[in-house]
Amino acid sequence: DWKMDDFVERTIQEIREKVGDGKALCALSGGVDSSVAAVLMSKAIGKQLTCVFVDHGLLRKGEAESVDKVFGPDGPYDLNFVHVDAHERYYEKLKGVTEPEQKRKIIGEEFIRVFEEEAKKIGAVDYLVQGTIYPDVIESGLGKSAVIKSHHNVGGLPDHVDFKEIIEPLRMLFKDEVRAAGLELGIPEDLVYRQPFPGPGLGIRIIGEVTAEKVKIVQEADAIYREEIAAAGLARSINQYFAALTNMRSVGVMGDFRTYDYAVVLRGVTTSDFMTAEAAEIPWNVLQRIMNRIVNEVDHVNRVFYDLTSKPPGTIEME
Ligand code: XMP
Repeated sequence: DWKMDDFVERTIQEIREKVGDGKALCALSGGVDSSVAAVLMSKAIGKQLTCVFVDHGLLRKGEAESVDKVFGPDGPYDLNFVHVDAHERYYEKLKGVTEPEQKRKIIGEEFIRVFEEEAKKIGAVDYLVQGTIYPDVIESGLGKSAVIKSHHNVGGLPDHVDFKEIIEPLRMLFKDEVRAAGLELGIPEDLVYRQPFPGPGLGIRIIGEVTAEKVKIVQEADAIYREEIAAAGLARSINQYFAALTNMRSVGVMGDFRTYDYAVVLRGVTTSDFMTAEAAEIPWNVLQRIMNRIVNEVDHVNRVFYDLTSKPPGTIEME
């Protein structure tokens, strides 16, 4: 792609001129935006950049490993990569908390703390890198009349850290252009075409209190859901889909035994801008296969729902 080729070259030059021999820090979430920003920065300034990946214990199954694979020492890039395993402190902070906005706030604040600690270890960081893209710029610029949910973006929390400047190398790009740049930079396709995953992660896909046990249930159910959607060839036609955990338990029967276990809800939407959305029409037999696998393979789940709600009035996430 000649246009992206041009963008990449030009941006690398600009970054070099701006940063000089300074140090930059990038919060890596494993999403496409922060990944493309990180690789672009690393091509420009090499080891003057440090990428920090905070695993808050609210990631999907296999996600931390796939970030390590791309950005860690065995990956294709030669960059400073710090993987922080913060799951214990997150679960501790979230213990007993059930109110959605409070959960979001705790997850966001804890992210800042972890990130600040890492920044301090590195010392004298001049630049903070963010994967802000053009639609984010417009959205914040319009000054929405009401905050519907406090959005927490892993890259979006610089206020409390003392940086000289913020660098947003993707701020003029639309999503499809970010993807094209990602491919141009050699980022694996599965990462480039990854569906959106919110900063607060599974924290907002577990209704009510977050516990290690519930995280495990969602991770396993979600992995089965993704596997079967991919196997059915539907992965690219559903814009976002995931398993979530209702905070409800109900009675079922397994063999000769009565069970009293959790209900998993499957969400799947088609949307062009994520501001409005419709429930995806997943074929019945695919849903049935997913249901069967989840109740048989995931401990403590005896019921599976499919969420038919459009947005509005529902939101895409559960909280
Ligand atoms: P809702 O649930 O508001 O979600 O319909 C719309 C889109 O935004 C994503 N989302 C988030 N992304 N931080 C993010 O980076 C957040 O706090 C957050 N909350 C929701 C959601 O996954 C969907 O794509």
